[in-house]
This record gives sequence, C-alpha cells and structure tokens, in this order.
Amino acid sequence: MDGMSWTETGTDASERIWPEASALVYDDAVKARTDHLYARVKDVVTPMEWPAFAPLIDAINQLKVLRGATILAHNYMTPEIFNCVGDITGDSLKLAQVAAEAEEDVILQAGVHFMAETAKILSPNKTVLIPDMEAGCSLASSITGADVQAIKSAYPDYPIVTYVNTSAEVKAYSDICCTSSNAVQVVEAVAKQWNTDTVIMIPDQYLAKNVAAQTGIKILTWQGECEVHEQFTPEDIQDLRDAHPDAVIITHPECPPEVMAAADFAGSTGAMANYVKEKSPNKAILITECSMSDNVSVENPGVQFIKPCNLCPHMKRISLTNIYEALRDMKHEVEVDPLIAEKAKASLQAMLDLPKADNPPSFDTGKAAVAVPYVTI
Ligand code: 13P
Ligand code: SF4
Repeated sequence: MDGMSWTETGTDASERIWPEASALVYDDAVKARTDHLYARVKDVVTPMEWPAFAPLIDAINQLKVLRGATILAHNYMTPEIFNCVGDITGDSLKLAQVAAEAEEDVILQAGVHFMAETAKILSPNKTVLIPDMEAGCSLASSITGADVQAIKSAYPDYPIVTYVNTSAEVKAYSDICCTSSNAVQVVEAVAKQWNTDTVIMIPDQYLAKNVAAQTGIKILTWQGECEVHEQFTPEDIQDLRDAHPDAVIITHPECPPEVMAAADFAGSTGAMANYVKEKSPNKAILITECSMSDNVSVENPGVQFIKPCNLCPHMKRISLTNIYEALRDMKHEVEVDPLIAEKAKASLQAMLDLPKADNPPSFDTGKAAVAVPYVTI
C-alpha cells in the first residue's frame, strides 16, 4: 500500500490492518469525510493543524463503529477531540451518569484515570479503555484509602463526602461521592440522612470551603488541591477586570474562595458552559483549564473569549494519536478490584440516586467565607 491510501484500495474498514498513526494520510476521501467536522472547529483549529488531525479523526470514527465503542469526552479535552470524536461530552457528573447507562460494550474515556475508573465501577461488564494510564489528577493523588479509613475511625459520627476526583479505594471507604455540579446538594442530603450538622468533605479543600459558604452545614476537609485551579489568585481576577471591564468572569469552584468571591459566576464546567449559552455575554473569561474556552466558543460563536488559563498536564496526556492506538489495539483497559468496586459503587450510586437537576446549579459568589478546619488523623 506504499504511496496509496487505504481508501483508494477499496479495502473494507473491518478487513483493514490499521497502520501506525504516522502512516495515516490526508487524502481526498478523508477530506470528504471530515470537512463537516472542520467547519465546526475552524475557529479553534488552524488550517495548518487540520491535515494532521483529520486522518486520525476519520480512523477513530471508523474504529468506534468497528469496536462498538463510545467516547466520553470531558470538557477539558482539546477541541479536535471534544468536537470531532467525542460522542458524549460534558462535566464529570454528566460523564458518570452516561457511563452508568451506556449501551455500547466499549467505553473509551477521553479524560483522566479517575473518570475511567468511575465508568468501570458503574458499568463493570463493559470494557473501559483510557488512552494513557498515567493521566492522573493532583486531587486523586492527594489521598489514599488508608487515609479515609483513618478519618472514619477518628470521626465515626460524621459522613464522608468524597469528590469523584479520587481513586476507587478512596470512594470505597467513603459514604457518598459528589462532583462540583452537585456538591452542595450532596452535603445537605447526607447531613439530613445522618441527622448531623457536620460533614467531612475530601480531598479538595477549596471545593469544601466554597461549599461551606453556600450552606449552613459545618464542613471539615483535607489539604488537597487541583493544581490547575489553585494557581489563580484574586489579583489575577482584578487585573482581568481592569483590562476587560465589560467581560463576565466565570470561575470553577476548585478555585480558592477569594478567587470565587471576585468572580461574577461560579460552577462546574457544565454550569460554566450553560451560563455562557444562556446569557450569551459579549465577552467572557473562564477561570479554568485552557481547552474549556475553545470548546465553549465552538457552541457560542458570538461570544468573545479572553483566555487566561492553566493547562492540566493530566488531561493533556490524551491525544488523537493515543485515542486511535487505544481503539486500534483495544489497549489500556481499566480494571478495578471487584471488592473495592462494589463498595465504591455504593458511594457513587448514593450520589446518582439523588434527584437530578435540569441544569447544573451555580455557586453564589457573594456569600461570606466560613472557617473550614482540616481533619486531624
Ligand atoms: P467538572 O467537570 O465536574 O466541573 O470537574 C472539573 C475537573 O477539574 C475535572 O477534573
Ligand atoms: Fe485533576 Fe485539576 Fe486536572 Fe481536573 S483539572 S484532572 S481536578 S488536576
């Protein structure tokens, strides 16, 4: 097949020997099959980049059919992944809900490891693939299952609410999970169930502090942080306000409380995207991971985005090349010890069983900060 693309040979996709990613070519057939996708991302992917992306996108979209796979893509995926190969896209809560209900036999997680593990826990009979096993998370690596067991022993009367950005083992020793979309709802629901005024919320200290400002429930937390969101400062927000007084400033609740207090709106990545869609501001500044503005801008071409952002090195491990290789070779299968998975599923299910909101709720950025001590173990 030297010098000739596989589409020119008339080979059926199911019979094709899928080559190295670098051997895929951008020919007329690939162009014809992908032009409609380029039209979608043309404002965020340059014409110089597209000939490198298109053959991979085309191959991935054929392999998905061949393997019976669906791709769940988080909002922080780069725009060519998010818009051109993602089947279901959204925030962590939406991806978990979809993973629990997916009809396909194979789920490829275009996101980080804890998301793939969550998909496996919720759909244990499915094959769950992640393009790079090393795609971690600073929050997930801040706490272990043994830490949670120690917290439980020290505070037996308080329920433990665990952010989904954690390992299966951490979830297994917790009482209920939450995401940034439902954290306030989960804290209030579990406090009521346990008939307590105090809840332990781990491992993101900033999410815990931001939630505490929204509710009357007292919160104890852990000293974990998201390495992307912890870097933003109130001074950054002030500088942006001075430079762009007409822009709406939108933050993620993994940011420190002083950053959230300086913003106009705060919520999960899903809530951020909804807010821009609903309000259609002239100018928006999303205080979060870099790909988010690109992906939201595709849906909102009339909005001008100022992009002060931090890259998540873990999310950025996922590329079209390693998605292609994962589906080609059916590799990097995520497995979870069945005993751990069963317990972790109970924590995830307790979250998923709570009433679903029509739209991800926002945080009130005007609330005063409250003290949130760390647990001592
Ligand atoms: P959400 O998409 O749930 O807002 O989470 C953001 C995040 O940092 C995921 O790693
Ligand atoms: Fe973890 Fe933050 Fe990266 Fe999300 S953005 S995966 S919370 S480090």
